[in-house]
Amino acid sequence: LNFNILFYIVAYLAGSIPFGLLLAKIFAGVNIKEQGSHSIGATNVLRVVKETNPSLAKKLSVATVILDALKGTIVILIAMALDASQSTLWAIGVLAVLGHCYSIFLSLEGGKGVATGLGVFLVLLPIPTLIGALVWIICAKVLKVSSLSSLLGLTATVIAALFLNNGLGVNSNAPMYLIAFIIYYKHIPNIVRLIRGEEKKLV
Ligand code: G3P
Repeated sequence: LNFNILFYIVAYLAGSIPFGLLLAKIFAGVNIKEQGSHSIGATNVLRVVKETNPSLAKKLSVATVILDALKGTIVILIAMALDASQSTLWAIGVLAVLGHCYSIFLSLEGGKGVATGLGVFLVLLPIPTLIGALVWIICAKVLKVSSLSSLLGLTATVIAALFLNNGLGVNSNAPMYLIAFIIYYKHIPNIVRLIRGEEKKLV
């Protein structure tokens, strides 16, 4: 059995764990898949739980971002420690994001890949990701629209990566574009709402 295949299976399964859904269910007793945007990410945790418990909503939302990001990061770090190749690391990242967006535990439904993509990009493209995160934070503060901020932050990350040599110095453009494509694709309903002026602000 090829060692890499094991990494790929673990990455997809780890990515599939719907932390936002679980946290909101366990600590707030709500099913976020049936409310708000029906997404399982931190934004929908915040949106749905806020209606009954604003302070809990913030905590659960932050915990969701961190845990969803770690789904991407941890398997890559383990593979790195075991000297996996650069392309293996990227394949792990793609599979973690796919797991989050098309979870095996949710009949292939799931989230939109922003936090998990962030976790993947943070280890594989650290500087561009920090730039993208900064863009995301500024946009979120100014625009107060989560989806648009995520898409602008993601775009900034990709552009920054194309201009800078990333830390690991190999050709990582194809998997980077693939992850970005998955995230854009999952945001199509948000993009439609943004164009129609129907996307709701967070506060
Ligand atoms: O990170 C996900 C965010 O970009 C959009 O989430 O729930 O508003 O569709 P949501």
